[in-house]
Amino acid sequence: MASSSSLTKLVFFACCLLLFTFSDNLVAGQSDKVQLNVYYDSLCSDCQDFIVNYLVEFFDSDLFTITNVTFVPFGNDELSDNQTVTCQHGEYECQLNEYEACIIRTVPDPKLQYSFIRCIENYTTNWPSSCFNGSAADKQAVISDNCYYSDLGRKLILGYANQTLSLNPKPDFVPWITVNGDPFYSHRIDDLVATVCTAYKGTASLPTQCSSTALAERKGWSKLQVSYANEAINY
Ligand SMILES: *[C@@H]1O[C@H](CO)[C@@H](O)[C@H](O)[C@H]1NC(C)=O
Ligand SMILES: *[C@@H]1O[C@H](CO)[C@@H](O)[C@H](O)[C@H]1NC(C)=O
Ligand SMILES: *[C@@H]1O[C@H](CO)[C@@H](O)[C@H](O)[C@H]1NC(C)=O
Ligand SMILES: *[C@@H]1O[C@H](CO)[C@@H](O)[C@H](O)[C@H]1NC(C)=O
Ligand SMILES: *[C@@H]1O[C@H](CO)[C@@H](O)[C@H](O)[C@H]1NC(C)=O
Repeated sequence: MASSSSLTKLVFFACCLLLFTFSDNLVAGQSDKVQLNVYYDSLCSDCQDFIVNYLVEFFDSDLFTITNVTFVPFGNDELSDNQTVTCQHGEYECQLNEYEACIIRTVPDPKLQYSFIRCIENYTTNWPSSCFNGSAADKQAVISDNCYYSDLGRKLILGYANQTLSLNPKPDFVPWITVNGDPFYSHRIDDLVATVCTAYKGTASLPTQCSSTALAERKGWSKLQVSYANEAINY
């Protein structure tokens, strides 16, 4: 009996230790994540390409463990003195920006949030039928929360306008990407992974994507295309 009781104690102790270690790592890991901000317009085709085809790696691979992607839907849009927003690609873009702002607000889970934004950016016209599958997240985001086309949706967009217009230096093009606050100028998607890997100062082990072999393999891999305020220039 005595030995079984000390075994119980030992197991209990081991569990506590394990829990403690895990929760400690969890907290440290989260606050340490590299902040990857994406300033974009919903109907800018280079933004769509980046969000749909390239950003996915930061959600679907181990890069997710070290990266916190934050979407800021305002991009090249303009805010007039009377607080009216004018969107580069017209009123429909303003609607989609606001819609995505509401999704960011009401779907906190990063992967789910991204799956909605990615789907909308992929379809853009027939997205309601393609992206909203009647899931709980969808109803919450759009109906219950009364965000879209309401004061809340407008307030969110004005907040994103403020964030975007406060950037220093000012964005020259979209998608405008910052890594821990520093602008990412390179126009090369392979560099983006390398930049995020280098920026990571946390305690978690680096994803395999960060190894020198993996980084070397993707050298020259793909170019990030960007749009300027009044024209689209491809690098
Ligand atoms: C990710 O970034 C957002 C926006 O800056 C912030 O509110 C959130 O706390 C961050 N999450 C993590 C896990 O770092
Ligand atoms: C706000 O300003 C814009 C641009 O200056 C103008 O076109 C618009 O009519 C104004 N809207 C209101 C409600 O005053
Ligand atoms: C994007 O849309 C195409 C159809 O135009 C579809 O085949 C594809 O699965 C979609 N991809 C995503 C990530 O939604
Ligand atoms: C909804 O279902 C379609 C078709 O199966 C899929 O392409 C789309 O990604 C789904 N939407 C979301 C937000 O998961
Ligand atoms: C952003 O909001 C803050 C606080 O309301 C304000 O002081 C600042 O001027 C705003 N910046 C821009 C660029 O609108």
